[in-house]
Amino acid sequence: MFKTLILPAALLSAMAMLAACSPKNVSYSKEVQTILSKNCSECHTPGKPGFEASGLDTTSYASLMKGGKFGSLVKPGDAFTSALNMLVEGRAHPSIRMPHGKEKLPAADIETLKNWVNQGAKND
Ligand code: HEC
Repeated sequence: MFKTLILPAALLSAMAMLAACSPKNVSYSKEVQTILSKNCSECHTPGKPGFEASGLDTTSYASLMKGGKFGSLVKPGDAFTSALNMLVEGRAHPSIRMPHGKEKLPAADIETLKNWVNQGAKND
């Protein structure tokens, strides 16, 4: 009686811990590009103010990885020091939180961008 109750509970909590430590694989084409097109590309496209000010074009994987005037914004494997993540998370100065002058991204989108960078920022 005891064993049958305790074992499933222990298994469940172990599974919950595993799930928390290893987020599911994030796809650039299915998830990241959607977030960027919806929230960033209206300004970060050649000819638009975000691009003109920063040199960042968020319309393709190649242009995102190329970065802006001040260098690369995505460090594969390291969301903590990637400018992309710092800005959307509001860890840089509040005046340059992205999207510029708009509501912060939903927490789930911020998390997706973070997991994608931490998983190596792959073009998949
Ligand atoms: C309303 C227009 C607008 C939107 C939308 C926008 N940006 Fe920006 N972005 C700017 C402007 C303008 C700058 C130049 C910095 C400044 O003047 O604050 C900038 C700068 C940046 C920089 C700094 C580049 C550097 O070289 O340091 C990054 C990174 C960035 N944006 C990422 C994003 C991301 C990611 C999104 C979507 C979540 C986004 N932006 C949405 C206008 C925008």
